[in-house]
Amino acid sequence: MKYNFDKLTDRRGVNSLKWDCAVGELPMWVADMDFENAPCIQKAVEERAKKGIFGYTVVDEEWYNSIINWWSRRHNWHIQRDWLIFCTGIVPAITSMVKRLSEVGDDVVILTPVYDIFFHSVENTGRHVAESPLLYDGQYSIDWADLEQKLSRPTASLMILCNPHNPVGKLWSAEELKRIGDLCIKHHVTVISDEIHCDICGPESSYVPFASLGEKYAQNCAVCISATKAFNIAGLQCAAVAVPNEALRAKVERGLNSDEVAEPNCFAAVATSAAFDGGEEWLDELNAYILQNRDFAESFFKEKLSKLRPVQGNSSYLLWVDCSAVTGDAEKLCAHLRADAGLWITAGGQYRGNGKSFVRINMACPRARLADGLERLERGLKTFKN
Ligand SMILES: Cc1ncc(COP(=O)(O)O)c(C=O)c1O
Repeated sequence: MKYNFDKLTDRRGVNSLKWDCAVGELPMWVADMDFENAPCIQKAVEERAKKGIFGYTVVDEEWYNSIINWWSRRHNWHIQRDWLIFCTGIVPAITSMVKRLSEVGDDVVILTPVYDIFFHSVENTGRHVAESPLLYDGQYSIDWADLEQKLSRPTASLMILCNPHNPVGKLWSAEELKRIGDLCIKHHVTVISDEIHCDICGPESSYVPFASLGEKYAQNCAVCISATKAFNIAGLQCAAVAVPNEALRAKVERGLNSDEVAEPNCFAAVATSAAFDGGEEWLDELNAYILQNRDFAESFFKEKLSKLRPVQGNSSYLLWVDCSAVTGDAEKLCAHLRADAGLWITAGGQYRGNGKSFVRINMACPRARLADGLERLERGLKTFKN
């Protein structure tokens, strides 16, 4: 490998959300990686910083081109320049789109368990979450009858899709996405597809951009994309929404502008372009490393934590672990693990659906740190009283 993902980085002392915890604690919760950024990003940001003036900024052609080329080259989705709107993050974009594309009191359909902030975007703006829980038999799948029932409600106006799906680590297939897309068209529900996790997956797994499935699907969606998850640059606040339909795009654009989330800081576009233009090799090595971390963790669970069952995922560095053989209250388990073993992981209840008996563990760290986390989990589990 050209890049050293084993390097034990020190993230304390820089106001890291993840690492701002007690000394001795090991945070493996928020989706933020412990690796140094790709050198091409570091260099681009340093060069911009050296200019020494940090005034108001706009995105340049390079920003558009780097995104268009990346999706075309890696994901066979041919984004047109006009479709792209800059925004400071995917969460701000989703909240803004919920406000623009639905009415107060409407239902927003969401497959659960899912990234919990979706619920905040919906509920904090006076809409309702129409939850369609995924079916679970060791693997997750869509309950199609339930999904259609939720989408067919007269009050349903939006669906927020997570593709790939955090936290269960599932890449939806083209067939599944088309079926979702057809149901949404049938019931006049607009799709917001959050594809932030799309670039973290193994070589044999392939992410299908929702809007690449065909014109009718593309015309009924807004797709959220960014370099922030795969390249770990969330602190630079840069994302994009791609909206192929002109009328829909006008609404989204107006919403993003009036919510004041459509202007970049002076590092946002620089870092995005550097990532997409120069970070491909780094990302491929990162994905290989994460896959090895997943194998390492799965072996550890088999040998030493056999009561806990990692759900097999084909994307993301987040391990979703079924703890139902130990407890139905993962919140209690997580509080115990933090207090007893200094391990900070996420209790799955916040993702709704069947999440209450699951935990989410972030494996995007040097392997030695992952081993430390798993050992803490083993130790903490021994003293856990349900
Ligand atoms: C599915 C999903 N969407 C959005 C985000 C956050 O996006 P942003 O930092 O661009 O607001 C996350 C962060 O983990 C996520 O998992």
